[in-house]
Amino acid sequence: MENVIENIKSRRSARRYTKQQINEDNLNIILECGRHAPSGGNSQSWHFTVIQNQDILLKLNQYVKLAFEKLKIDENTYKSIRAGKNLSAKDEYSFYYNAPTLIIVSNDSNYSNAMADSACALENMLLAANYLGLGACWINQLTWFDKDENVRKVLEELGIPNNYRVCGSMSLGYKDGPKSRGKVIKENTVTIIK
Ligand SMILES: Cc1cc2nc3c(=O)[nH]c(=O)nc-3n(C[C@H](O)[C@H](O)[C@H](O)COP(=O)(O)O)c2cc1C
Repeated sequence: MENVIENIKSRRSARRYTKQQINEDNLNIILECGRHAPSGGNSQSWHFTVIQNQDILLKLNQYVKLAFEKLKIDENTYKSIRAGKNLSAKDEYSFYYNAPTLIIVSNDSNYSNAMADSACALENMLLAANYLGLGACWINQLTWFDKDENVRKVLEELGIPNNYRVCGSMSLGYKDGPKSRGKVIKENTVTIIK
């Protein structure tokens, strides 16, 4: 049990990866953990799409860059989207941080718990990756742009049906670069009433 708590508390987002691909055993463990997540009414209507093909990842990256380019923003735009638009104009931009693996979690657009269930699955997978000594990060660009014509075409080619939306995705690989700094946990976010 202590290990579970320690695993939860030590998980951090990884944004630098080596080129080395993860092995299939680890990938299968991570997917198993995603599939064991709780879901509303036990619907398990999620779908996990694993992309380890560089050409497809680069094509998606190109379309994400284009979608950012077309996107009109103002001061009310969510800050991560604003930051993303600026970053995406750079040649070296990679929305998945050049990770060797990207896992897309999609779910039925007409299902009210689509996001909640998929988030549970993604967190399970982020924690499994941490336990296995791998780096991972939630990636939201495909959620923002899954209705973009170019992006949707690729999703369709990957077998994601039109009535499924991208609820989130996750970059995955071996961490590169320095260890993440400790993070400040906000105070006053808990109320206990006895
Ligand atoms: C719903 C959601 C969307 C996120 N989208 C992105 C993203 O698109 N790109 C990214 O680098 N990190 C993304 N993150 C990671 C957060 O930035 C990160 O979890 C947060 O800064 C806390 O850091 P930690 O994960 O290292 O604890 C996302 C996290 C969540 C939960």
